[in-house]
Amino acid sequence: MHKELVLALDQGTTSSRAILFDRQGKIVSIAQKEFRQIYPHSGYVEHDPEEIWTTQIAAAKQVLNDAGTSPENIACIGITNQRETTVVWNKETGIPLYNAIVWQDRRTADYCKQLDKEGYVPFIRKKTGLPLDPYFSATKIKWILDNIPDAKQLAAENKLLFGTIDTWLVWKLSMGALHLTDVSNASRTMLYNIHSLQWDEELLQLFGIPMQVLPQVLSSSEIYGHTDNRILGSAIPIAGIAGDQQAALFGQLCTKEGMIKNTYGTGCFMLMNTGDKPVNADENLLTTIAWKIGSITTYALEGSIFVGGAVVQWLRDELGIIENSADIELLASEVATSEGVYMVPAFTGLGAPYWDSFARGIIIGLSRGTGKAHIARAALESIAYQSDEIFSLMQKQSGIDIAEIKVDGGAANNDLLMQFQAELIGKNIIRPKNTEITALGAAYLAGLATGFWKSMDELAAIQEHNKIFVPAKNVQYIQQKKNEWQRAVQTVLFWSSYSS
Ligand code: G3P
Repeated sequence: MHKELVLALDQGTTSSRAILFDRQGKIVSIAQKEFRQIYPHSGYVEHDPEEIWTTQIAAAKQVLNDAGTSPENIACIGITNQRETTVVWNKETGIPLYNAIVWQDRRTADYCKQLDKEGYVPFIRKKTGLPLDPYFSATKIKWILDNIPDAKQLAAENKLLFGTIDTWLVWKLSMGALHLTDVSNASRTMLYNIHSLQWDEELLQLFGIPMQVLPQVLSSSEIYGHTDNRILGSAIPIAGIAGDQQAALFGQLCTKEGMIKNTYGTGCFMLMNTGDKPVNADENLLTTIAWKIGSITTYALEGSIFVGGAVVQWLRDELGIIENSADIELLASEVATSEGVYMVPAFTGLGAPYWDSFARGIIIGLSRGTGKAHIARAALESIAYQSDEIFSLMQKQSGIDIAEIKVDGGAANNDLLMQFQAELIGKNIIRPKNTEITALGAAYLAGLATGFWKSMDELAAIQEHNKIFVPAKNVQYIQQKKNEWQRAVQTVLFWSSYSS
């Protein structure tokens, strides 16, 4: 039988999604299930791994159902996921020892600070391309080993497994037969040497993590194995894996050196393809593996912003000034400018280019006339200012005059935000017709591995653009706004060092 669809599983920070794509890369059906965000203490962010699994598999079943198709019609599965988030489970029972510690979690900030004082920053960056930060998996695994009863004992008995979310899903889909990850996810653990493409023994020793808990690392596009047929009713090849930001870079077809994309999800992540050699990022950006296809490893420069679209959720859920996320555009449009109000949404510290785990957010410049619309506008603009700072650094570090930026993710549908982004950056912003690019990237990786799609040229032929945002505003005015934003950021940094 001719298999007509590819199933992408997109396990994100706030929801598990499943999307079925046809040969033209068009969405046939889509399902999304939200799950609980668990905040046991200030700075702690956790997910229940079982809930991640049950929402993910429910979404997969729903898309099959909605499309009226059977699992036999699915050529392959591609997986993409929130990166760094750490799950540790018992190999024999399959039960997690602790909740998943989410990438946003800051509980290991003090430990990172201590390693920083001991001079480990260059050592870690040289091997992994990463700054020393609680963001990455290594210190989260160490925390579980140090704090959860039996963890060390189980590890010593070779009964403990670690995985990022892709690994956890593959293990569940295969009913425990497969324990693996791809290079892009491995490169986010702070344990993987991005030059030798191996788990790094010196780093494992530094963090006290035994090698046997780690998954096997494979490429991003190959048949890793099959789903157990009890899961979806048929054994489907799992053939593509990439961390969500790398999958988005691939889905945007930024497959040539110098091509750049920005994804506006929970966080905001700008990645630039740097070809088959890692470009050494300075202390502000990070070097990461984009993907490995066949024997070729592609690298990227990345600017990671911890709070992007999440600021809109905060306005909705904590302040209650909008009912639905999409309402922010209308509210923010009620005013022509933020009238001197700036918001720095450092809810979980600041990522690139500041890397300050102790920073916390502010809203500044309030006057008696400040209203909801100004706050909404300042919140939206904060996403664009943060992205602009990353863009300037990338342009500087790569030495490339970047012509345009491709955008995707939920908040990329916001025209007001995209136009403001174009003004700040001073370059064209290109939005594809399908902003579900992360899932599409995972589908492409799987589809290429199984011959569902034959070549990159075939993928380029089916890609469609929706809209181009062109910068038009007065450069002087924009520069003044950027300077004011910088003052707001400096206030946040001052407050952080003041209180720590
Ligand atoms: O590194 C964290 C990132 O992968 C999370 O992505 O889309 O869930 O905000 P997202």
